[in-house]
Amino acid sequence: MAAAAPSIILAPSRYALPRPFLKWVGGKGQLLGTLLERIGAAGQFRGYHEPFVGGGALFFELTRQGALRDGAALSDANPHLIEVWQVVRNEVQGLVDALAVLKSRHCEEHYYAVRADVPATPVDRAARIIYLNKTCFNGLYRENRRGGFNVPFGRYTDPPILDEENLRACSRALRNVDLRCQDFVSAAARVRPHDLVYFDPPYVPVSRTSVFTEYQKGGFGEGDQRRLAGTFRTLADTGARVLLSNSWAPLVLECYGEFSPLEVSASRNVNSRTDRRGRVSEALVDNFAALRPAKLAG
Ligand SMILES: C[S@@+](CC[C@H](N)C(=O)[O-])C[C@H]1O[C@@H](n2cnc3c(N)ncnc32)[C@H](O)[C@@H]1O
Repeated sequence: MAAAAPSIILAPSRYALPRPFLKWVGGKGQLLGTLLERIGAAGQFRGYHEPFVGGGALFFELTRQGALRDGAALSDANPHLIEVWQVVRNEVQGLVDALAVLKSRHCEEHYYAVRADVPATPVDRAARIIYLNKTCFNGLYRENRRGGFNVPFGRYTDPPILDEENLRACSRALRNVDLRCQDFVSAAARVRPHDLVYFDPPYVPVSRTSVFTEYQKGGFGEGDQRRLAGTFRTLADTGARVLLSNSWAPLVLECYGEFSPLEVSASRNVNSRTDRRGRVSEALVDNFAALRPAKLAG
């Protein structure tokens, strides 16, 4: 019988800290319960890797549960995003101060001035992205094809521009975490047997108007999806615990058929209008059933 992972609690902890400091496209907040259930079935694991980290919903959940005792490596191909994570880890006091200034000046005119500006320092650039994320229409930081940000002002009464307690909790959680801007293949090269890897790539589009691939300049096309499926298989062969989410699309079922994807239902933005939500099927793929029972020493 597979060894249980005693530290995984299936119900996501909704109110505890640390929580994602950015709301990111494709954020996994509402799939957390299902992801935790799958991870509970993986048996014990060592290090944790999230090569498409985005807002890091699963990383923060596992941190809150104390399940990441053997270190974590988080990465993403978006350099603006990774810079924010690094500033939260390394310069949280400067970030809190910069956000306090942005908060004190907040109004529509100030929003558009900040949106048009590209600050000179990492702290100010990180504060700008968090500020825009909390105050823009729909509260979602989304870059256009040219890597720019053109979301209009959001009319919120009291947007949470500065959540100092959470930023400090995130900073503590990241103290020993490896953070890199890189492609997922480079991230996979650092995975050891018995590590847990969660791949949450830009999803295969489910409709012609779908915008799921617009995370960064260049998008994430069929070639990337197939490259990722090859990486998944290679890691599975080395004995790593590998978990992946994607849309319930023919390409995904073709790429991962041998792992018997699980169909789950989620509420998602299903077209380019971010305010239009609907229920869609998503695929969860893992290699846990094929793993030999493992009880890790120490
Ligand atoms: C679905 S989002 C991840 C959402 C995240 N799990 C969360 O909870 O917020 C996908 C991420 O993949 C990143 N990405 C796109 N192409 C990539 C690549 N080739 N290698 C690594 N990351 C990539 C995007 O920048 C984006 O942040």
